[in-house]
Amino acid sequence: VIKVVALCGSLRTGSFNRGLIRAAMEIAKSINGLEIEYVDISPLPFLNTDLEVNGTYPEVVESFRLKIRVADSVLFASPEYNYSFIVQGPLKNAIDWASRPPNVWADKAAAVVSASGGSRGQRSQYHLRQIGVFLDLHFINKPEFFLNAHQTPSKFDSDRNLIDDSTKESLKQVLLSLYAFTLRLKGKRD
Ligand code: FNR
Repeated sequence: VIKVVALCGSLRTGSFNRGLIRAAMEIAKSINGLEIEYVDISPLPFLNTDLEVNGTYPEVVESFRLKIRVADSVLFASPEYNYSFIVQGPLKNAIDWASRPPNVWADKAAAVVSASGGSRGQRSQYHLRQIGVFLDLHFINKPEFFLNAHQTPSKFDSDRNLIDDSTKESLKQVLLSLYAFTLRLKGKRD
């Protein structure tokens, strides 16, 4: 079984990106051997290395790091804010905590999807990929998934659940690619 941890850069209740993660979890049920667990990053404190005591981390940070450590791959869903070249505040904070020694992102596979305003989030996705280089976190190259959530509100219902079949199909292709790539990476590790 391939275990995927899903992280959302948006903390708001009505998040389109969170809706994408819910849809991915639903789609994963139809993919044999793929499990997605959503992990909430909102309880993490702001990164402050004063909180590290003799190489240990605050309890919420330890439990977050453990979730990443035992996962085979990571699915990021994040909006873009102000052309953000530092991804998104809460998400970057989570990335930084899990990069502290030992870096628990290393040798994992990853995929990124985004629902954003006009730009659809491309800039933040490319910067996330760049951060992945330093973390040894390996992103699938294709397919890319960008959604302009605001120009297409009909793709979600009022509870922000994805209801558009072609978007679901695109998301499924991302998951299948992540699944195949994770198997290849695991093969090299085991
Ligand atoms: C945005 N938004 C946005 N969209 C985009 O495509 N490029 C951008 O640079 C920005 N900048 C930006 C800044 C700030 C402070 C906010 C609050 C919003 C729009 C944003 O991506 C959009 O509202 C998403 O829908 C937010 O994601 P969730 O919360 O729906 O997952």
